[in-house]
Amino acid sequence: MSQSKVLPAALADRIERLIAAMTPEEKAGQLSQFFVFERGSEPVDEEIAAGRAGAILFVRDPSEITRLQRIAVEESRLGIPLIFALDVIHGLRTIFPVPIAMAASWDPAAVEAAQAVAAAEARATGLHWTFAPMVDVARDPRWGRMIEGAGEDPYLGGIMAAAQVRGFQGDDLSSADRMVAGPKHLAGYGAALGGRDYDEADLSESELRNVYLPPFKAAIDAGAANIMCAYMTLNGVPATGNHWLITEILKEEWGFSGFTVSDANSAHDLAKHNFARDGADAAVRALNAGLDMEMALEAHDSVFNTLPQALAAGLIEPARLDDAVRRVLTVKAQLGLFDAPYAEPDAAVRVLDEPAHRDAARRAAERSFVLLRNEGQVLPLDPRALRKVAVIGPLADSARDTIGPWVFDHDNAETVTVLAGIRDHLAGTAEVEHVTGVSIEQRLNPSFFDDIPGFDIAPLVSVDDDAGIAAAVAAAKDSDVALLVLGEAQNMIGEAASRSSLDLPGRQQELLEAVIATGTPTVLLMMAARPLDLKGASPAAVLQIWYPGTQGGTAVANAVFGKIVPGGKLPFTWVRSIGQVPLHYARMVTHKPKEREMRYWNEDGTPLFPFGFGLSYTTFAYSDLVIGADPIGLVDDLAIAVTVTNTGSVAGDEVVQLYIHQRHGSAARPVRELKGFERVTLAPGESRVVRFVLSAERRRYWSSAARGWVADATTFDVFVGGDSVASLAGTFTVAPKD
Ligand code: NOJ
Repeated sequence: MSQSKVLPAALADRIERLIAAMTPEEKAGQLSQFFVFERGSEPVDEEIAAGRAGAILFVRDPSEITRLQRIAVEESRLGIPLIFALDVIHGLRTIFPVPIAMAASWDPAAVEAAQAVAAAEARATGLHWTFAPMVDVARDPRWGRMIEGAGEDPYLGGIMAAAQVRGFQGDDLSSADRMVAGPKHLAGYGAALGGRDYDEADLSESELRNVYLPPFKAAIDAGAANIMCAYMTLNGVPATGNHWLITEILKEEWGFSGFTVSDANSAHDLAKHNFARDGADAAVRALNAGLDMEMALEAHDSVFNTLPQALAAGLIEPARLDDAVRRVLTVKAQLGLFDAPYAEPDAAVRVLDEPAHRDAARRAAERSFVLLRNEGQVLPLDPRALRKVAVIGPLADSARDTIGPWVFDHDNAETVTVLAGIRDHLAGTAEVEHVTGVSIEQRLNPSFFDDIPGFDIAPLVSVDDDAGIAAAVAAAKDSDVALLVLGEAQNMIGEAASRSSLDLPGRQQELLEAVIATGTPTVLLMMAARPLDLKGASPAAVLQIWYPGTQGGTAVANAVFGKIVPGGKLPFTWVRSIGQVPLHYARMVTHKPKEREMRYWNEDGTPLFPFGFGLSYTTFAYSDLVIGADPIGLVDDLAIAVTVTNTGSVAGDEVVQLYIHQRHGSAARPVRELKGFERVTLAPGESRVVRFVLSAERRRYWSSAARGWVADATTFDVFVGGDSVASLAGTFTVAPKD
């Protein structure tokens, strides 16, 4: 684990000598990072040469990275190398499915492998640090950034967070194919009021510690060398100036030894939050809260450049300033930058063209799909039985949407759209007719992203909707099957892209209903990352394809025609309508315990699809739940086993899930909590015993009543199965000490 690795003594000495030699200005410089969008910008060159920059973000051209690094190493007084950072969220050149899709694979090995490819491509380009993974738990699908996380559950979130950290960082940050991971955004960002991005969050300590913090802890235990602080105010104190969060919990309680960074301008923002008096006060309060590096929008606009005056005025302790600098320099040393500050000159060309990366992206997409409906086993389609297929919808042939948000320099021409994947699969066997159908509406409010170079938002399709719907109906009538690719354009979800509705945007709902009404079997391929509301429309099959990445179309075709069998499961509860939000499976039982009784006059209390749900082209049965011991002691781990059998006629994957429920204790606990899972592949008729260890640690929780972590002597229910409403159940008791 990289961050906890002890540096060789010679390097540690070198860092101490550097700190001793640095002026307060140079120290503040190491703690400042800023955006560089343009090549060859003079003010930036001057800042670097003067030692007033520790890191740069957003430069992506390998030769420009090398040029700027040369200025730092050869022209600045102490020659300290820069760290170059970028949001490498789901790939650099080879784009993998978006993070929520990767979480839907419930396959940490696939997730780790994907981020290892991303790291190899990024490091070859000269980048050292990614602002990923986003480990914010998200329980409100209005919040666009749910696409960047692992969904609603702290346990699944922790497993995915750790897998991504391992993928980015490996065992040795100085390797030519690894980079620093920066889990974000500490903490509670996903609980923004109303799902409005950047809005305040109010979370009890129990909710924070039981739900929102565990993925951060898991990422840190996996060795993450950086943590990004969140934009918003948490319980009235801005996260970036929150001493309790950054110093007391992260650094002291969890022993985090890497460095913390602000979100873009969020140190600056402390003054906007009515918290700091002005920029200089913001710098003092952020540093004193435990923030180590500021991410500023512009070179001359950082607040940390006022730290030398704060030091002179006694507003910050020299030891705190040095601690921040030491943390940053230590990560630079772990990256090997003092000895090898430049990427190998031709690495980018070689690594970015690696065909194995494209294969990995296709396999990842195939593992991420979730089959939500499959009436009459309409899927998989048999290509030999098809004369003509209609591929319909505004997202069917949109390369830019297929790869999703947070993608910069990818060449759209390399992306396999769904249409291209289907055409390729059916080449020479069946005719394919493509109809766009309807437009997707434009953004109501402009976003600051619209002006940022690199956020190349392709114009959303614009067609005559009436004529488009008529053409789609005609094509469907004339086809054996209609494949509709509907959902949200990629810029409708992500940062600053919350939505107040879960409806299909534009007139896609009308298009969907008109095509279903033709009577031609209709398969909906949903390109989205929210639980969209189909308002009761019932296509024969629904396959959630997310934003499947570079090889998305090939992967989708493989799933539609049965070359692979979907095995992903939902990492969030799929609400029936937006009025149910927030609705998560790990709810508390209250006065009216049954979900159905809860409590809408006009809506069922249950979700449309539960957390953990996903169908397959085969079926599975569960039997023989074995609970290893009963009663057990407070500190005992417990072995739990279950047999899962493939009862269908094709091989397929099942995600076996373990949930517990604590019946009584010092505080009330949720009706179910995920505590283990394993994705297994089974041949037809094959059975497998899947074993879990429910550790004593996983039975602990933060109790508001006890104001601390507790493990209760109590009775637990155990549920095992293929989703969060699994019915195979058992119990065990935890005996009091004696
Ligand atoms: C703001 C976002 O909140 C954060 O996630 C991202 O890493 C930074 N901008 C840098 O792009």
